[in-house]
Amino acid sequence: MLRPDSLIFPHGSGYPDAAASNQVILGDNLKVMAALEAELTGKINLIYVDPPFFTNKHFAARIGRGEDSRRPQDWQLAAGYPDHWPNLDAYLDMLYARLQAMYRLLAPDGTLYLHLDWHASAYARILLDEIFGPDRLLNEIVWVYHGPSPIRSAFNRKHDTILVYTKSDQYTFNVDAVRLPYDPVTIKTFASSARAGFGKVPDLERGKVPEDWWYFPVVARLHNERTGYPTQKPLALLERIILASSNPGDLVADFFGGSGTTAAAASLHGRRFISTDGAWRAVQTQISRLVETTRQPFQFNLEASAPASPIAAGQTALPFIQDGQVILPPALLADLDYWEVDPSYDGQVFCSAAQAVRPHKHRATAPAVLPDRLSLAGLEPGRAAVRLVRIDGGRFVIEIPGAG
Ligand SMILES: C[S@@+](CC[C@H](N)C(=O)[O-])C[C@H]1O[C@@H](n2cnc3c(N)ncnc32)[C@H](O)[C@@H]1O
Repeated sequence: MLRPDSLIFPHGSGYPDAAASNQVILGDNLKVMAALEAELTGKINLIYVDPPFFTNKHFAARIGRGEDSRRPQDWQLAAGYPDHWPNLDAYLDMLYARLQAMYRLLAPDGTLYLHLDWHASAYARILLDEIFGPDRLLNEIVWVYHGPSPIRSAFNRKHDTILVYTKSDQYTFNVDAVRLPYDPVTIKTFASSARAGFGKVPDLERGKVPEDWWYFPVVARLHNERTGYPTQKPLALLERIILASSNPGDLVADFFGGSGTTAAAASLHGRRFISTDGAWRAVQTQISRLVETTRQPFQFNLEASAPASPIAAGQTALPFIQDGQVILPPALLADLDYWEVDPSYDGQVFCSAAQAVRPHKHRATAPAVLPDRLSLAGLEPGRAAVRLVRIDGGRFVIEIPGAG
């Protein structure tokens, strides 16, 4: 069962009446998918998932988003997510049940992308062959990247594997949406010799169909994208997947959503999204990110057995309203990661009509700290409330007291 926690209208867009057809959900994805089955069996057009890779490591999150990658001594770390398993069987049991649930949710013409690496992709392919049928493997995509590595006794492991399965042979593949320009050398060769292609003349203007190996830089190198959440994938990778395998208005889901890359790419390209994760830090990262990247309202729902959010204790200072603005006193602003305002809080579902997100440090033009005030119409003491999320994850609502 899913319980509504909030309705979020990014920067007030659509508040209060626009329908929110997108969802961020906190909870174990097996239970979340079970809760979605009644409504969404056979209805999701595209699923991309990037589960833990069976690395037997713990991935810490970095607090803040623009911190200098070359100065790890400056990073402030927080709980990210664990990737520890008693053995391979335990890992594959976890994956198998979830891949079966995804198969049920997938539309008859839908596509699943499963992103893994050398640790488990060979085993996962066998699971997917069993669930989808071996002839439903559309592609084995190799994402290559580069970066530093301590390895000195083997070649640097710098690729991931993305297995792509379609539910039937009727599937969406928008080849023209993902074409790439031909290499300048190829263009020059064809310009100089009509026989260069052994009788085949490519449409040089239209561009080529991408190969099944892709280069995109890792997020550590993409300062504008970095959320601080571990193992975040590049937006461009998700954009290619979404453009190729879904259409505007389609429903795209990511059940291991992490920092929300799939949701951000889906909303950027006019697709609806469902993005789930089992960790508070992940869903809070998704919410902050989506507030900046979409103008579409979205719901934030909790699976019934999801863990409660950490609560920050001992608040003594109170927000107040002045000249159409909600203002936070400095005691509340300290160590804050995100805050938002519901102008008319009903004590149950938080309708967020204005939000303040921690700025990227590297952007010289951005203020160094969260703004201490948000302007919005219709503010009344005694009805409005603020919700605050601290950098340690503590989350709490304060109702703004009425006069007297
Ligand atoms: C590799 S990360 C995903 C990163 C994401 N693709 C991005 O770009 O940020 C895997 C995520 O799966 C989540 N996760 C692991 N097991 C889960 C489960 N059973 N239910 C929901 N989320 C889970 C972790 O909390 C973690 O955020």
